[in-house]
Amino acid sequence: MNLMAVRSASNQKRNSAPVTVYLQNIVVRHTFPVVFTRHLFSPRNRLLRNAIARGETRRQHRCLVLLDKGVLAAFPDLPVQIRSYFDTHAGAMQLVREPLVLAGGEEIKQSSRFVRRMVEALRAGNVCRHSLCLAIGGGAFLDAAGLAAALFHRGVRLVRIPTTALAQCDSGVGVKNAINYAGSKNLLGTFAPPWAVLNDADFLSSLPLPLLLDGIAEAVKVAAIKDASFFRSIGRAAPQIRKRNMSAILRILKRCALLHLDHIATSGDPYELGAARPLDYGHWAAHKLEVLSRHRLSHGHAVSIGIALDALYAARSGFLPEKQAFRLVSILRTCGLPVYAPELSRRDRRRRLAILAGLEEFRAHLGGELTLTLPSPIGSRTEIHSVDEARMAECIAALARWK
Ligand SMILES: NC(=O)c1ccc[n+]([C@@H]2O[C@H](COP(=O)([O-])OP(=O)(O)OC[C@H]3O[C@@H](n4cnc5c(N)ncnc54)[C@H](O)[C@@H]3O)[C@@H](O)[C@H]2O)c1
Ligand SMILES: [Zn+2]
Repeated sequence: MNLMAVRSASNQKRNSAPVTVYLQNIVVRHTFPVVFTRHLFSPRNRLLRNAIARGETRRQHRCLVLLDKGVLAAFPDLPVQIRSYFDTHAGAMQLVREPLVLAGGEEIKQSSRFVRRMVEALRAGNVCRHSLCLAIGGGAFLDAAGLAAALFHRGVRLVRIPTTALAQCDSGVGVKNAINYAGSKNLLGTFAPPWAVLNDADFLSSLPLPLLLDGIAEAVKVAAIKDASFFRSIGRAAPQIRKRNMSAILRILKRCALLHLDHIATSGDPYELGAARPLDYGHWAAHKLEVLSRHRLSHGHAVSIGIALDALYAARSGFLPEKQAFRLVSILRTCGLPVYAPELSRRDRRRRLAILAGLEEFRAHLGGELTLTLPSPIGSRTEIHSVDEARMAECIAALARWK
């Protein structure tokens, strides 16, 4: 027996029964490949086949493919390529049906009906806990598909094939999924590590520059709190990024993905049980801005504004040299990212800045005490547990002058 009796004692009160407490200890290890490749569906590229089988080579793996409509629009031949890949590797894998194509972007997270459509396809395809769900799409699509896969049979194997910069460098390599509910971002979701993540750089070729920059915003975020030399290299590459230099962009996205992976694996809190969430630097404001702008602002653009705001706040609070805060703002702007949106200055009925409600929502999402991560100095971080609203308002006013 792996149970340990940690206490066996009578209650202090007279006549009460003796109490024994067993400390249950469950260790679950998750190992999954994260691959960077090109031409993923070229029949000669065996990475997808290997990621699906993961050593179980003696049987045919049944797969349901879920496909983001925006990806299909950009790559209309994709279903044919997928079919021919599966035909070539028919001994190892089998499609349960044609890909299920659903809306991409935030729309898919705004209602549970898309998750239900996915669950229905998993059921109709008899996908079991040894079959696989392959989700191809942007971060929003993968979030919804991840939730469906995590719920069905209490979790079926999910292969993520992220197709946006942000999904390849951040959301697609992590362990979270979610949809929005009752006007709150990511209110319904689970922690569920994927079976494999396959980043194909070719998918990024169709992205307009703003969607590439979404990933760069997350890279500046993680560099600012974890890696000063990476921060400097993004700064040096900023003019090339703005000109869509793909080799510079891909280098940064890959480093960003590795930093996220490293944090999840080594922070000691992959399922965010503690109050701190360093990778969410700038996100209290970003999530609120997304909602206030009715998702006109993409997640990445909202993150850019959120990290600029919190960098100024860190400087005015004495945690970050002002020069470094200005450098962060200047790197974002040189890349072509925003550091201000009018929603930052919007007031509610009581004349309070509406964005500040994001602090309470962020605290409620994490539970416990409010904990915000700030760069202090660049490349490392500190945590604060309260925010001076007047000082935050000054930072917003400063960003408004900068826009
Ligand atoms: N789970 C996490 O840990 C995590 C982390 C960060 C962000 N997110 C979430 O990710 C979402 C943002 O994801 P995103 O930035 O990838 O954008 P997105 O998923 O919203 O996609 C944006 C648009 O691009 C389209 N698209 C996708 N791939 C394309 C391609 N290759 N070519 C052309 N169009 C393509 C989509 O159809 C959509 O219309 C947000 O909902 C955010 O909350 C989740
Ligand atoms: Zn983010």
